[in-house]
Amino acid sequence: MQTRFVFTVRDKTNAANEHAGRVREMFAGIAKRYDLLNHLLSGNVDKRWRRIVAERVREKLSPAHIGSSLILDVACGTGDLSLTLFENTGARVVGTDFCRPMLEIAAGKTSDRIPLIEGDALDLPFRDGAFEVVTIAFGLRNLASVEGGLAELRRVLKPGGWVAVLEFSRPANAMMRPLFGLYFTRVLPLMGGLVSGSRMAYSYLPASVQRFPDQEQLSLLMQRAGFEQVRFENLTGGIAALHMGKRPE
Ligand SMILES: C[S@@+](CC[C@H](N)C(=O)[O-])C[C@H]1O[C@@H](n2cnc3c(N)ncnc32)[C@H](O)[C@@H]1O
Repeated sequence: MQTRFVFTVRDKTNAANEHAGRVREMFAGIAKRYDLLNHLLSGNVDKRWRRIVAERVREKLSPAHIGSSLILDVACGTGDLSLTLFENTGARVVGTDFCRPMLEIAAGKTSDRIPLIEGDALDLPFRDGAFEVVTIAFGLRNLASVEGGLAELRRVLKPGGWVAVLEFSRPANAMMRPLFGLYFTRVLPLMGGLVSGSRMAYSYLPASVQRFPDQEQLSLLMQRAGFEQVRFENLTGGIAALHMGKRPE
């Protein structure tokens, strides 16, 4: 396959580099089975979540300028959200991720419709204020710094632009939490490990979700990062949540 990725990952601290290296290697190891496992382990609910993101994003774009609007999908992985945004909003979409094997799968699905740029979410290779909307799905939790990631997402947004963060979160129903916890910490690593060959990657998933801020905490972090009108929507009872916020005019 002809490569059309631009390599732009720049220097960071040692700890951040080590973290990034581990995460990149882990996703490289499961890239070929990533989509299959996503759909299998979520019973295809992940597709509905991405469609909801696209609907909410479309509502934020000005109908008069939708065709010239630019959306950046950060940590786009194999490109499922990038494609859903492209097909459901009418805007132009750019995907970026720092794991080449994930991007190669994305390139196979998106052909020339979506430019894919190899780059680090903590040091995005885009100028300030370049995008009307920036999205990140199941990516923020993997960054060495959630705060650093939010600051970078804000930097590349136009004033008045919107960020959309889709992430696993805390089920709202207290009865559901232990059941979901059992699935997430026992069933998922077992099935994920068997199908992907990397038990580690699918043990990392619940661990990273447990460390990640819940709905209220993430709202607060987004406000601290300089977003206004921060709101979240629970998806499938809060198993995932979609947070949106606006970069002030
Ligand atoms: C769980 S996948 C999500 C992929 C896609 N957004 C989706 O919804 O399926 C997480 C992705 O984040 C990427 N990622 C993690 N840390 C990153 C970073 N610092 N910069 C760019 N991409 C990163 C990984 O390479 C991986 O493709």
